[in-house]
Amino acid sequence: MTSAERNHTTFMFTDIEDSTRLWEEHDRAMEAVMSRHDEIFHGAVRECGGKVFKHTGDGLAAAFTDVQQAACAALQAQKRLAASDWGTVGELRSRIGIHSGLAQQRSGEVFGRDVNRCARIMDAAHGGQVLLSGTTVALLEATRGDRWDIRELGMHQLKDLSTPEAVFQLCDPALPSRFPPLRSVDRIRRQLPPLAELFVGRQMEVRRLGGMLREGRLITLTGPGGVGKTQLAIAAAMDHMRLFQDGAWFCRLGSAQTVEDIAQLIEATMELHASRGENSLERLSSGLATRRALLILDGAEHVLEAAASVATELLGACGNVVILCTSREVLRARGEQVLGVGPLALPALDEDDLQAARRSAAVALFERRARLAHSEFALGEGNLSAILSICHQVDGLPLAVELAAAQMAAFDPRDLAQRIGRRLELIDDRDKTLATLIDLSCSGLSEAERTLFRRLAVFAGGFSLTLAERVCTGGDVAVDDIVPGLSDLVDKSVLSIERTDEGNRYRMLGVFRHYILQRLPAGEGVDVQRQRHLEAYLEFANAAREGLSTQFEVDWVRRLNREFNNLRAAVAWALESGQVDRAMELVHCTDGYARDRFRREVESWAEQALAASRGDEPHRFAALAVRATAAARGDDIAGSMRLAEEALDCARQSTVADTFIANRVVAIAGILTGDRERASEVSYAAIERARERGAALEVARFTAFVAHGFLLASDNEDAGDMARQALEQARALRNPSLLAWCLYVCGLLEEDESALGLLEESIEFADMVDNQYVAGLALQASMWKLQSAGDSTLVAACLRVIRHWYRVANWAAMAIALRLCAQCMAGIDDDLVAVLDGWLRRQEQRVAFSAGLSESYDQAIARVEKSLGKAEFQMSVHRGAAMDPTQVVNYCTRALESWVARSSG
Ligand SMILES: Nc1ncnc2c1ncn2[C@@H]1O[C@H](COP(=O)(O)OP(=O)(O)OP(=O)(O)O)[C@@H](O)[C@H]1O
Ligand SMILES: [Mg+2]
Repeated sequence: MTSAERNHTTFMFTDIEDSTRLWEEHDRAMEAVMSRHDEIFHGAVRECGGKVFKHTGDGLAAAFTDVQQAACAALQAQKRLAASDWGTVGELRSRIGIHSGLAQQRSGEVFGRDVNRCARIMDAAHGGQVLLSGTTVALLEATRGDRWDIRELGMHQLKDLSTPEAVFQLCDPALPSRFPPLRSVDRIRRQLPPLAELFVGRQMEVRRLGGMLREGRLITLTGPGGVGKTQLAIAAAMDHMRLFQDGAWFCRLGSAQTVEDIAQLIEATMELHASRGENSLERLSSGLATRRALLILDGAEHVLEAAASVATELLGACGNVVILCTSREVLRARGEQVLGVGPLALPALDEDDLQAARRSAAVALFERRARLAHSEFALGEGNLSAILSICHQVDGLPLAVELAAAQMAAFDPRDLAQRIGRRLELIDDRDKTLATLIDLSCSGLSEAERTLFRRLAVFAGGFSLTLAERVCTGGDVAVDDIVPGLSDLVDKSVLSIERTDEGNRYRMLGVFRHYILQRLPAGEGVDVQRQRHLEAYLEFANAAREGLSTQFEVDWVRRLNREFNNLRAAVAWALESGQVDRAMELVHCTDGYARDRFRREVESWAEQALAASRGDEPHRFAALAVRATAAARGDDIAGSMRLAEEALDCARQSTVADTFIANRVVAIAGILTGDRERASEVSYAAIERARERGAALEVARFTAFVAHGFLLASDNEDAGDMARQALEQARALRNPSLLAWCLYVCGLLEEDESALGLLEESIEFADMVDNQYVAGLALQASMWKLQSAGDSTLVAACLRVIRHWYRVANWAAMAIALRLCAQCMAGIDDDLVAVLDGWLRRQEQRVAFSAGLSESYDQAIARVEKSLGKAEFQMSVHRGAAMDPTQVVNYCTRALESWVARSSG
């Protein structure tokens, strides 16, 4: 050990998970619980040689001179917490973070950068989890590394820390080791758009919102356009996301018009996939029922009534969801709390102290934005009063301040102050202030730049250079004009630029897009652009469909994620202009991407296209196939078969070359309805056609389908041959989704240990391309395979599957998982099995299970009934039958977790 290592102090921070709720629900019991909690932690710290130096509300901080002691104390405390009986409180879980570094001491207080870092690491943990920093792991390994079971969790951006941090988990066989993704800022941020780079001020409002988010359920930020409602909502969500353990989501209401639209948008944003419920709103409520989540609904002013209904419905059904809405007007929904957002703070008009002026958010924003536009810009005594005049004239409205500051490359501040003054003389309405500023921003554009700018407004979200070249050329604009044109627009601050690994991506500020679309008469000009946009995106979508079947699937998934808004706009135009087949073609191209990732929106594209269909469109088969998939997911298996056959009929008459999607839905429906013969018939037909066309991927995919069918018919020998053949082909093709699928089928087949390896590999490939569908199947299969293990590995596998389906809220798949879980847990936790059986029987699942499965299920249940005794068994069955899906999931995960805890004693 070097002397530097010896000088390190190791810190440990702890915090009880969900303590606010526990205090609320178990006020009386909590005092005793807390004193037992303190006893456990103090005991563990003391016994291992450390010292508690601070108490926080629900946890403590301790310091250790030896890193080994800290690791011991953490594990010991977790084990004791898990083993304790917490009475009515049920269970108490604490998150722990450990980090080693230098400590500073002042009058008994320990503080410093490393102490804060440790607290941040703890913040990222879930209850029951112990997280370590990279430094701590290095120290542990330098001393007695072999003694510890340490799992690497990757790099994470933690709150308030400037650089990402490598995070590790300290495991112990006696403790649960699988947890949801870390609660790091990174994970949450990805669900929120980034905060404006130049974000300033708003500390008071953010703090105030903290209280409102804690106490209220529906909060609306109101104020005029550009005042900063959206930015404030994002800032508040980032600051207070600790209140929402399941995360925070941002949903731009954009073009949504009805309740159904809004519900669908939220569903897509949260990647939920509930199957229960007649309409999107019901599905959404069932998907969200148990989440502790913050939902930001951004820009509700054009759908006040619909947004209010969605909010009321969701808040009624989902007790732990909080909605933060931004809107120019209040929703007038029940229980709504309103926070009016005012402009940024302004200094006095005659303020002459530079530093004092800079302390106001408006001036700070102006200065920073102006410097971006013009690197030599400096706020000084010479221009202070002009800048104050500008900020005052635009009332400190941040958007207006920004737009004005962006003009500093072209105008002298005094000049601009006068111009704004002249233009504003006659108006005092803020929206007009903005329009004036947008006019001003555009006034520096040449006629050619204006034309290009106007044409670019057809893109929804960002766009690449190549697509701009495709869509915006023609007339006065030549291909060669695009590159200089875009860079001029970026220089003049009306376009922003983002550098990605695939070149530059451009984005138009929302207000400009709106302004242009509103001002431009919807005449021919716009239609031409929209048509070109549609054609360009059809080409992109076709390339994507092919790309998804190659070894480069990962890249294509990323591109599709990025272009989804543009695809939506293209579909909308196709439908609006009566080009039904083109809408269907877009459905065909995006189906593969959408299905595996549960993006239901494509289903509604298909519905709209079918509603407008004349019945003879070449791509009609694809829309029908998507409808068949939707029916199967909605548990309408017979309907799904009918639709699938209709799709296949259509495909036969179609001039389109690739119609494999139709064969696929028939094969799936065949398996679901138990008509395996039909399933293999269409699969063989597909294989033959794929061979003729040289479509190697389809050959492999349908070969695995056939194998799967054999497997269900218990013809393992034929299944084995075909599955191995398919896997071999898949390995050569290197397409991740195909590999995941073939590995899954092979894994199902193997009886020995190798099955788990194959399934694990399947999950890895599926995760690589976010194929949630196959990942779920493979997770489920590994749980099944682990049944014989009968130990905590099995339980961990059950938990993993249930959490997977919970994450996407797929209740149909969840029902199957719970059924397997019941079967696996027979003899381990009979009471749980009886509860699950009660719930499952009430569901009358129509999904056909293979005969083998049902029989062994019944046998397992019979054993449980015998061992529990009739009366007790019935009681639990009744209890289960009364639960709703989310209750049963909660009950089940708790039971599994506490079994793990008990069994490790
Ligand atoms: N606190 C802030 N610091 C820096 N810039 C800000 C701040 N608040 C808003 N802005 C900038 O002002 C512009 C408008 O802000 P935002 O989109 O939040 O307004 P809004 O009130 O939501 O407007 P709308 O009603 O049009 O949706 C954005 O470009 C944003 O970057
Ligand atoms: Mg907004």
